[in-house]
Amino acid sequence: MEEPIIEVKHLSKQYNIGMDTAYKTLSESFTFAVRHPMKALMDFRRRNETFWALKDVSFEVKRGEVIGIIGRNGAGKSTLLKILSRITYPTEGEIILNGRVGSLLEVGTGFHPELSGRENIYFNGSILGMKKREIDEKFDEIVKFSGVEKFLDTPVKRYSSGMQVRLAFSVAANLEPEILVVDEVLAVGDSVFQKKCLGKMKAASESGRTVLFVSHNMNAVENLCTRAMLLNNGNIICNSYDTREIISKYLNIHDQSNKSSSWINNGKEFLNPWFTLEKIYFTDEFGNIVDDGHFNNKYNYYYNVHGNIRELDPALQVGYALYDEDNNLLFWTNFNDDKEENWPKLSKGKFCFSGLIPKRCLNEGLYRIEPMVSMYFSEWIIQPGVNAPMLYFEITGGLSESPYWLTRRPGILAPLLKWNVKKV
Ligand SMILES: Nc1ncnc2c1ncn2[C@@H]1O[C@H](COP(=O)(O)OP(=O)(O)OP(=O)(O)O)[C@@H](O)[C@H]1O
Ligand SMILES: [Mg+2]
Repeated sequence: MEEPIIEVKHLSKQYNIGMDTAYKTLSESFTFAVRHPMKALMDFRRRNETFWALKDVSFEVKRGEVIGIIGRNGAGKSTLLKILSRITYPTEGEIILNGRVGSLLEVGTGFHPELSGRENIYFNGSILGMKKREIDEKFDEIVKFSGVEKFLDTPVKRYSSGMQVRLAFSVAANLEPEILVVDEVLAVGDSVFQKKCLGKMKAASESGRTVLFVSHNMNAVENLCTRAMLLNNGNIICNSYDTREIISKYLNIHDQSNKSSSWINNGKEFLNPWFTLEKIYFTDEFGNIVDDGHFNNKYNYYYNVHGNIRELDPALQVGYALYDEDNNLLFWTNFNDDKEENWPKLSKGKFCFSGLIPKRCLNEGLYRIEPMVSMYFSEWIIQPGVNAPMLYFEITGGLSESPYWLTRRPGILAPLLKWNVKKV
């Protein structure tokens, strides 16, 4: 049997949860402790608290596999990739790599900020163990793919985060490592670049390279990966070649702990200069809040996105994305999907964007709905499938007035359409 290209054996990673204490000097600490003895004690305990980001993780990867690693925020995905890329060390266990790893982790890792784009390409290539001549051969392709030609001699610290990611991805993908490790890069680029990245990863896998890919974008995972692993609280809870099954398990974990019909910002999420998202909830066509998420298809419902417009900008987009139970994206909709003179007039202050969920369009079943907030074509604030809070609703009953067609129908949708029938 062929030896695996990656072997991970009983891997664990422990972190100290070091706190940023508000009081810095000894005398400040002392004063704080005298005034708040309980809190000081808790802080002290917490400072010595440790935390397992990964716990006893084992798996093997065969050459040429494309593995999607999914899981909620904090599940341990990036920690795993960082250990595989040797950016951090495991506390216990070991990894055996039988190939060169090229990795694209967070924005900026692997780049030297003071060096130019050109110098960083050579720097990264040499880390991958490539000779100058080999890098020379790839150089033009890397630059072309990244689209940063004009800034090749500018220090990378002056690049925008999008440019850094483009260059980093281009380097990681084009220098032909045997193992390509990619963490969530698709969240940063624009949609054209996202498509290019997916294409490149697909090509890498088709040419027999091994790819490990962390993403919250389930469509990308499903399209690209031959196998998926679901991480939760530092453990692999499933690992299978049936990627769809793993994805639906993942969405179900969300379901049990977080199958909510409303969402309130704790004040810390989605900070940006333009629009503070405050809460999201459903209402029925009479304006009543629907907090159990149960819809009857006979009625219209509304998805309400409440927020504070802090800086007025015509680029502001607010909408929603709707998914069915199998995570198919059904559609996107936006509040200003009309000619400009018909757009709602916005001003600074609090607004509620109510998006219609039309009656008798969807089938019976469970649906997931996510807000979309962005600055048109320049910046995602809340991106569906990536960082958006999820609400759920379930449609039961009310599909039609016909006695023949009362229950769930074949197909994703169940629209009631007008028919013209005449004698001819
Ligand atoms: N350097 C660190 N020091 C302390 N704790 C850390 C450190 N890095 C990560 N953690 C913690 O380890 C856990 C796993 O983090 P990790 O970044 O691997 O999650 P993730 O699955 O990549 O999440 P996300 O989807 O948000 O990217 C988190 O609880 C995180 O807070
Ligand atoms: Mg991560």
